[in-house]
Amino acid sequence: MRETYSSRDYHRSNRAHELTPEERAVYDALDPARMPQHIAIIMDGNGRWAGKRSLKRFLGHQQGAECVQYVVETASRIDLPWITLYAFSLENNLRRPRNEVNFLMKLLRNYLVSNVKRMNDNNIRMAYIGRTHELPQEVQDTMQWASEQTARNTGTTLTLALNYGARSEIIDAARTLVHNLIAEAHQRGISVEDMLAAEGVDDAIRNRIDEPQLSARLYTAQMPDPDLVIRTSGEQRISNFLLWQIAYAEIFVTDRLWPDFRGIHLLEALADYQQRERRFGGLGESSDEAFSDTLPSALEVPVELLPR
Ligand code: FPP
Repeated sequence: MRETYSSRDYHRSNRAHELTPEERAVYDALDPARMPQHIAIIMDGNGRWAGKRSLKRFLGHQQGAECVQYVVETASRIDLPWITLYAFSLENNLRRPRNEVNFLMKLLRNYLVSNVKRMNDNNIRMAYIGRTHELPQEVQDTMQWASEQTARNTGTTLTLALNYGARSEIIDAARTLVHNLIAEAHQRGISVEDMLAAEGVDDAIRNRIDEPQLSARLYTAQMPDPDLVIRTSGEQRISNFLLWQIAYAEIFVTDRLWPDFRGIHLLEALADYQQRERRFGGLGESSDEAFSDTLPSALEVPVELLPR
């Protein structure tokens, strides 16, 4: 696994002087010990942005692609280790008109070709998640080229989710686990049934299918889970994005449409995130109530407080 920062050894970025004065003011007020490692963004509202200006939808996407670079460069200036952008969902691929899909594919190739130099100047590494093998071959070739060109960069990893759907990602991971099981039996020269029976079927399955092993077969196996999910354009939904990985992520929804979103807004979302108390199912630091031996038994709880 690629080395990641823990928030404890997070430092002030030595590229902070590259931020705009407005961004710098927000950044300087952030707590370096509470920086997220991974931000995931649902970029929404390109069509509405264009519609409000009586422009064709594709111009909204074009402006949206420009914003990607602004936002990613701000992320790199603050040394954010991981940023993942929902650029094209499986559902977009299946349900949008073909000419819009073709335009998005062209835009993606143009984006990669014209921004690889900037990625390298900013020490950004490109990665992808999704059923990318179903994308047109020329798009896959350009993606491959961009990831090779930026592979040696050690700063922010920009992951584009392309032809991505979280449910299919989980299905793909489950299928890989089953294939692994069959390969293991094959390697041992016995049938799957005999292999499982030898260990006891329940134990054998439990040993091979659990959270860490399923996580390790997701497209995101090399990344930490997102700490923060940002969604632009005001819709309060997740739209089949990283469903497994965002189990404990904080969610920040802004009404701002994606083509109006800039680095300053990323930093403002981060400031909001730092106000949250993350509990991961526990009680959290602010809870003063210790769950101790002195807790009254159910029989001692006043009857009016018991659930009816
Ligand atoms: C939602 O807008 C956004 C998308 C369908 C994909 C996001 C694409 C981009 C930001 C541009 C291309 C990206 C890269 C990386 C080159 P929408 O059309 O659903 O907006 P609407 O909900 O207002 O109609």
